Amino acid sequence: MSNSECEWFAEWFDTPYYHLLYHNRDQGEARTFIQNLVGQLPIQKGDSVLDLACGKGRHTRILAELGFQVTGADLSANSIKEAQQTMVNGTQFIVHDMRYPIPNRSFQCVFNLFTSFGYFDSLEDNRSVISSVREMLEPHGHFVIDFMNSCFVIDHLVSEETKTMGGIDFHIHRTFDDQHILKDIRFVDKGKNFHYEERVQALTLDDFQEMLEDNGFQILRTFGNFNLASFDRQHSDRLIIIAQKKSWNSSSH
Ligand SMILES: C[S@@+](CC[C@H](N)C(=O)[O-])C[C@H]1O[C@@H](n2cnc3c(N)ncnc32)[C@H](O)[C@@H]1O
Repeated sequence: MSNSECEWFAEWFDTPYYHLLYHNRDQGEARTFIQNLVGQLPIQKGDSVLDLACGKGRHTRILAELGFQVTGADLSANSIKEAQQTMVNGTQFIVHDMRYPIPNRSFQCVFNLFTSFGYFDSLEDNRSVISSVREMLEPHGHFVIDFMNSCFVIDHLVSEETKTMGGIDFHIHRTFDDQHILKDIRFVDKGKNFHYEERVQALTLDDFQEMLEDNGFQILRTFGNFNLASFDRQHSDRLIIIAQKKSWNSSSH
């Protein structure tokens, strides 16, 4: 079983401060991105899709508006509670740890968006996520991963930054320790000191290729931003991968 109660991502993403700090994420950009992605996938209105690590469901709602039956799943109970308050037709939200398959559910496509991967101490957990996705996908189903382009992020790391959101000064210190991109976040609220750390594995396209291929996927396409420009290791800010589930007994499907 997971011991997610004591892991950084189980704690930080479930706080109101995480949502406050990232309050001004661009909803228009998310909509354009989802529309662009759906145009690349052989999925039809009415198909069941999964937004894995959905947060408060900003992409889940857009997918539902496009006519899909969407399940949004996230480890953060607070995010799921909030997502449930603004539910639209065709959506369902559940608290779920992505290292495990959702029992008795299958999907034509699974989306894992906005760097919602690479949080775990053990690399084995990455593989558990991918094999769980495989288990939940219909034959030949698709898996979309939208991750940071680690090479670009490392080259452009802003080491110190202060962001003021909701009257709180968030002091952010970023480092790279050869394996992870670390974001140390400190602030004071109502006289109390807080300290959190985001710790994301600096995974590259080669790492994803190896993990996906070892776990029964083939990469079909890669893109380097939300407008789906080509991926360029040096210049792209995102690494977006569309992979397809292969049959174990086939080399091409
Ligand atoms: C960077 S946020 C992105 C959220 C959402 N995809 C978005 O674009 O707004 C990462 C999300 O991953 C979720 N998460 C972290 N670990 C998880 C796990 N083991 N299982 C499911 N969700 C997880 C967090 O709770 C958080 O909502």
